Amino acid sequence: MKNMTDIIWYESIDSTNNQAKRLLKDLTGTTVIAAKEQTSGRGQRGNKWTSEAGSNLTFSLVLKPGDGLLENIPPDCQFVISEAVALGIRDYIAAENVSAKIKWPNDIYVSDRKICGILIENTVDGGNLSGSIIGIGMNLNQQRFPREIPNPTSLALITGKAYRPEEVLEELLPRIMARLDEAVSGPSGLLSSYLGSMYRKDEPARYTDVRTGTEFTGIIRGISDSALLQVELPDGTIREFSFKEIGYIIS
Ligand code: BTN
Repeated sequence: MKNMTDIIWYESIDSTNNQAKRLLKDLTGTTVIAAKEQTSGRGQRGNKWTSEAGSNLTFSLVLKPGDGLLENIPPDCQFVISEAVALGIRDYIAAENVSAKIKWPNDIYVSDRKICGILIENTVDGGNLSGSIIGIGMNLNQQRFPREIPNPTSLALITGKAYRPEEVLEELLPRIMARLDEAVSGPSGLLSSYLGSMYRKDEPARYTDVRTGTEFTGIIRGISDSALLQVELPDGTIREFSFKEIGYIIS
């Protein structure tokens, strides 16, 4: 397990991923940048990430070369970072007696509701990963969400407990770091754990083909070597989708 000494907390900041980018060149090894409030939180696909101030956990785990972790992840294997982080979050939620699933590539769901989003921004330099900014937004105490947020939930809505973001961060980080260590030492075991935790795996469900706009029924069977989603179609063939090519239909 890595030594997690550097946690920088902000009362309010635009986005912890933005702040990580600004500080990146001065960091080495592993650093955490956390905020009670984000004024311009960012999500995947250029979306906003909105989170009630003080209620939830919003932070970026920043990996730079220096403690033997990033140095050992080749750029063409960078999906192991997603796998490790998603599994570490799932592990934390499991310790709260809640069963969470990983919606490929790296959303965390409880039943059909999203509890946590992850935005990973990697930089490659000279053929090596030179930085990884892993932004995590986990809904802890929020009870009501803006209408435009699809399928949200929070840990408190599920367990009825109240959570202190600082304490959750202290408990979550070692679980993520343990999975990142596994990414370096035993990536095949990590992949099996990821596959075993995938949302909707081996279940018929409805999807959208983003390119054509058509809906179809498919069964998620796994992920390819290049981390594409493998979906079995009604005729038994397997089709591979990138993140931008498939939408999950969730009621
Ligand atoms: C998503 O599901 O769309 C990804 C959401 C990622 C949100 C986190 S909150 C901390 C970090 N800072 C950001 O601006 N975004 C990430």
